[in-house]
Amino acid sequence: MAVDQQIISAKLLDWYDRHARSLPWRVPPADRRRPDPYPVWLSEIMLQQTTVAAVGPYFARFLALWPTVDALAAADDADLMREWAGLGYYARARNLLAAARVVAANGGFPETEAGLRGLPGVGPYTAAAIAAIAFGEPTVVIDGNIERVTSRLFALPDVLPAGRPRLAAALAPLVSPDRPGDFAQAMMDLGATICTPRKPLCAACPLAAACAAGLAGTAEAFPVKAPRRPRPLKHGTVWWIEHGGQVALVRRPAKGLLGGMLALPGTDWGAAQDHALPFPSDWRLLTEGVRHGFTHFELELKVASTALADRRQLPPGIDPVWTGRADVAAAGLPTLFSRAAALALAHLPLLEGA
Ligand code: ADE
Repeated sequence: MAVDQQIISAKLLDWYDRHARSLPWRVPPADRRRPDPYPVWLSEIMLQQTTVAAVGPYFARFLALWPTVDALAAADDADLMREWAGLGYYARARNLLAAARVVAANGGFPETEAGLRGLPGVGPYTAAAIAAIAFGEPTVVIDGNIERVTSRLFALPDVLPAGRPRLAAALAPLVSPDRPGDFAQAMMDLGATICTPRKPLCAACPLAAACAAGLAGTAEAFPVKAPRRPRPLKHGTVWWIEHGGQVALVRRPAKGLLGGMLALPGTDWGAAQDHALPFPSDWRLLTEGVRHGFTHFELELKVASTALADRRQLPPGIDPVWTGRADVAAAGLPTLFSRAAALALAHLPLLEGA
């Protein structure tokens, strides 16, 4: 490591020793101790595409329910999916369980970045992060925060993600061989608290004297981004079908978006507004709808509700999980459907006479 790189690394770690965020899955830097890989892995999977603040309560609850990877491996799939509801990206929950079962069968976690890559749901970032944090391997960890810090430090002109290999090459020599986990987490914390996307606090930054973009007063211009393409808008309708105080929920197919999760039955989602109804009944289409952003599209969901005279009115295509009205809120519906359910419940008085 060149001297100036050593200085950058030392300044960062010194700052981390004083300012590390206290996070439930983290061993404080003063302890100089490696954390148990299970909570590290669990937190990293939960933190994929979800904020630190949102993950906190889920992390605590998972650890209380399943304190070890062996306990998690023995979890019931439906229990796990219910506890995951709200974190989004449900393929992550299925991979979490699959990975726990592999780890339990092998008697422990793989201890290298390469080995960790073999686990379901563990991509390049996650493998590098777990290897560094839990096993002390000097990997090059790059998440969104670290991308921003590094691109500013070196004023990297490349558009991301195409410029990632150059960014990794610039970052690699800074990684502390002695404290790679703390180095990665220090970069994350710096990005989260000082080197923020807007109005970075350069005056408080431990790396200010070495930061090319900061010194040039152009920090906010990095990382250079390609213009965003607008997400297409899709439409759909869900059907709130009641009988005798119970509501017909359905389980979505295991594969695909929100796979394996409980849902309200409804139309497919497409470019055209589709208010198709599954069978003749006294339907009410609520004027309000629910908007939800997925990674690749935006969804506008309408809610149509009806009360059945007879459960045999349900067509064979709907395989209902009858759920008491009062239990719907706690049934583990993904956010999109729980918001649609809340709308329907708010309009229930309209249904009473139906
Ligand atoms: N985001 C993902 N992993 C993290 C960690 N270990 N510390 C802080 N933020 C994170």
